[in-house]
Amino acid sequence: MKLKKLYLGTNTKMYKTIADTRTFLTELDRHTKDIGRENLELFVLPSFTTLQEAKKCVASGRIRLGAQNMGWEEEGQFSGEISPLMLKEVGAEIVMIGHSERRHVLGETDDMENRKVLCALLHGFTPLLCIGETRKEKETGISDEILRSQLKLGLRGVSGEKSKRLWIAYEPVWAIGVDGVPASKEYAQEKHGVIRACLTELFGKENGDRIPILYGGSVNPDNAPELIRMKNIDGLFIGRSAWEASRFDSMIRSVLPIWEKKQ
Ligand code: 13P
Repeated sequence: MKLKKLYLGTNTKMYKTIADTRTFLTELDRHTKDIGRENLELFVLPSFTTLQEAKKCVASGRIRLGAQNMGWEEEGQFSGEISPLMLKEVGAEIVMIGHSERRHVLGETDDMENRKVLCALLHGFTPLLCIGETRKEKETGISDEILRSQLKLGLRGVSGEKSKRLWIAYEPVWAIGVDGVPASKEYAQEKHGVIRACLTELFGKENGDRIPILYGGSVNPDNAPELIRMKNIDGLFIGRSAWEASRFDSMIRSVLPIWEKKQ
């Protein structure tokens, strides 16, 4: 299988004000502008309130922007939600759906993620669906079942044609954040294989093989190269280790040649 690009991105979670985001994106663009984009898809998902200003910082198109969540209707009585039309207005192209913090802290369900995926596709966004098992599910030996059900329920009703725009992030809940333990490269490789098999089951070999699968959960400068060396890992979705532009730039430069060698 050959995916055309290496996918590297960060979700800034509920961090970074407008000023912080402006500084981060301007610096990230300055650091990375000499890196050719023929093999690299670089993206940042900042908070809603920063998106309009963020768009001005990435006018060159070298860094793609997206949102960390989205409601599933264009408008309506959904206090606190954000509509696809509003996200379009401020230039978001990618929408992250089903991050573990949305599922496990804020109580979102597979059914809600599914409505968001369908709505994002309808409105021309690239949905980045996040899936991953909890520690308890891992210890119970049901990780594969959980991943498969999150995919099958979350992607219910997505056509083969629309699947071409999907991205998937495998983020084991136990690996994310300050208390997280990163997955070993072998474990991540194996679970990416389970995800790939499910995607080809859902969308056929050609379409299923085309969907990028990114690993996320305590990715750092030490483990990034070994994760990218693994055959089934198409990219990295990074939190804390990417929030300082020069550090993120170093990680990009360390993994890109490894990914190129793997092709
Ligand atoms: P960390 O890299 O900080 O563990 O966060 C990963 C993540 O949640 C990306 O969405």
